[in-house]
Amino acid sequence: MTDQSGTIESHPLRAGEDPTTYPPTAEFREQANINDPSIYWRAAEDPEGYWAEQAQKLSWTKPFTEILDWSNPPFAKWFQDGELNVAANCLDRHVQAGLGDRVAIHFEGEPGDTRSITYAELTHEVKRAANMLTSLGVEPGDRVAIYMPMIPETVIAMLAVARLGAAHSVVFGGFSAESLRARIDDAQAEIVITADGGFRKGRASALKPTVDDALALHGGGSSVQKVLVVERTKNDISMTEGRDLWWHEEITAYDGEHEAKGFPAENPLFILYTSGTTGRPKGILHTSGGYLTQASTTHRDVFDLKPETDVYWCTADVGWITGHSYVVYGPLANGATQVMYEGTPETPDWGRWWSIIQKYGVTIFYTAPTAIRACMKVGRQVPEQYDLSSIRVLGSVGEPINPEAWRWYHEVIGAGTAPIVDTWWQTETGAIMIAALPGLTSLKPGSAQVAQPGIRVNVVNDAGERVERGQGGLLTIQRPWPSMVRNIWGDPERFIETYWEKFGDMYFAGDGARVDDDDGDVWLLGRVDDVMNVSGHRLSTAEIESALVEHNSVAEAAVVGATDETTGQAVVAFCVLKSQQTALTPEDAEAALKAHVAAQIGAIARPRQILIVTELPKTRSGKIMRRLLKDVADGKEVGDTTTLADTRVMSTIQEQIRVP
Ligand code: WT7
Repeated sequence: MTDQSGTIESHPLRAGEDPTTYPPTAEFREQANINDPSIYWRAAEDPEGYWAEQAQKLSWTKPFTEILDWSNPPFAKWFQDGELNVAANCLDRHVQAGLGDRVAIHFEGEPGDTRSITYAELTHEVKRAANMLTSLGVEPGDRVAIYMPMIPETVIAMLAVARLGAAHSVVFGGFSAESLRARIDDAQAEIVITADGGFRKGRASALKPTVDDALALHGGGSSVQKVLVVERTKNDISMTEGRDLWWHEEITAYDGEHEAKGFPAENPLFILYTSGTTGRPKGILHTSGGYLTQASTTHRDVFDLKPETDVYWCTADVGWITGHSYVVYGPLANGATQVMYEGTPETPDWGRWWSIIQKYGVTIFYTAPTAIRACMKVGRQVPEQYDLSSIRVLGSVGEPINPEAWRWYHEVIGAGTAPIVDTWWQTETGAIMIAALPGLTSLKPGSAQVAQPGIRVNVVNDAGERVERGQGGLLTIQRPWPSMVRNIWGDPERFIETYWEKFGDMYFAGDGARVDDDDGDVWLLGRVDDVMNVSGHRLSTAEIESALVEHNSVAEAAVVGATDETTGQAVVAFCVLKSQQTALTPEDAEAALKAHVAAQIGAIARPRQILIVTELPKTRSGKIMRRLLKDVADGKEVGDTTTLADTRVMSTIQEQIRVP
């Protein structure tokens, strides 16, 4: 099967493999939240009933009577006549239930400062922040941009916005001024919440100066009225009179009295931008009742959470969907105790994560394959110096976990006993869609395994017909699910076109997949569109190409996701320079263009390699054949070149580059 960008390939690590399975132990199964397999067929028989039952576990200020309205597909409405306050579900109701003294967040700053914040304290701080935001003019329906490091105030800010029925747009702190500004403009945010900086790799990394740069772009006029600045690193920053306010100075004026109002279940909760196949990021819109229902249900069942005794830690940054659903909304709605760590795993050394697990007795640990592979490279002797015996469940997210990394994670971090749940989902799905339930599923390294109860996925061919088991195809989701993307902010046409046009009323995920012959386990085979996955983060080839051609020395650019041992994929760009630029040495051009991409989009998009060539391979109709360039970048033999307009171009390219 082919698509615009090439063929679906099987994952090389899996071809012909006969994986061993790891059934749950009797003890684990016994104590698991979900240990009755009938949950699958009960939910399949009545998915709406299943989700309504889950939604009842939240507290509603006005109960819903209608479960799903799918009368105007693809615009779903869940629990729409119900009302709730998302923040109160994450805070006040736990305090009211007498759990105010339970620690919500054990915060560990990178320099070693720590704070443990109880549910009562977190509730108090969110109420004060909500009062502060109200007096700054935030009203239900408004958008607030959040550009922050991984500190408790980030969670407080998100929940305060949610408490007021406004929507947050969290922009990952690694994004550039340009990227931040594009997101502020698209959402028309009136307030930006930021910090002077955050600690990363032993240094204070500035954030507020980037906000200043962002707001100064395009002549300076923007939707932003106020910038609230949390003091974290005390680096030198400038404050613009009348616009910028220190959080710690403002907050003193507000007390912790604040009554949470209920808002309709379909009230927007947040916008989160993600890369698509074109240059412009998409504002993924999530709403309240359905999102919180599925985020909390999956967090409880997939990780087998016992809120009274577990210490949970998800290493994701809140700037990504994993941080939204599995640092903020899922765990807090479930009353969990969690660890939040500000910095990087290698600071001050590679023992940092393991020392945190030992210190807080972390029982559930959720991270990404790219991080596991980085730790594998450093060696097992590092984690082996720590007591990791508290761990009882491990999670993985962001890309397929290769069996080798799976086994290392299982053995070295999980003592050979902790189940690993590999969780497939997306910014758009809002919550986990495919994953093991650890009390029921026989684990199979490398496979994401089973659709969650109440979720139905299918692997289909280009015509939308189900392919046979064992065959590769396209992953689709059959029915609306509670935490599904509701729209692309301000662009319903694009929403329909991107996800729904291909197959009518089935959601097209953009991933290739295969279902196992024997037991129906799902294997993910990577993106089938021009989207790359670098360290579990989504990057668009088109977005990086357009940044490159904006540079005055570049005539043409083609970007591919090359295979990378640690990051899964890595950005490799092929650039043709303008003729007057040929005096530039390839080394100078490479350095300048890498820096340019990092400045335009953010450090995560910085190419691993820039290869300067004189021509790009194109079809007769002028379309760049990235598939061939990917072969070159991977150091593989170049595939079929017969559709090229000029078949010699590939040998010219190979002569011109230094193959890695
Ligand atoms: C894309 C979504 C979900 C939060 C992190 C990324 C890939 C994600 C897995 C997994 C195989 C995975 C897919 C998906 N992906 N998790 N467990 N196995 N692939 O969110 O940035 O929206 O990216 O990440 O390709 O489409 P995202």
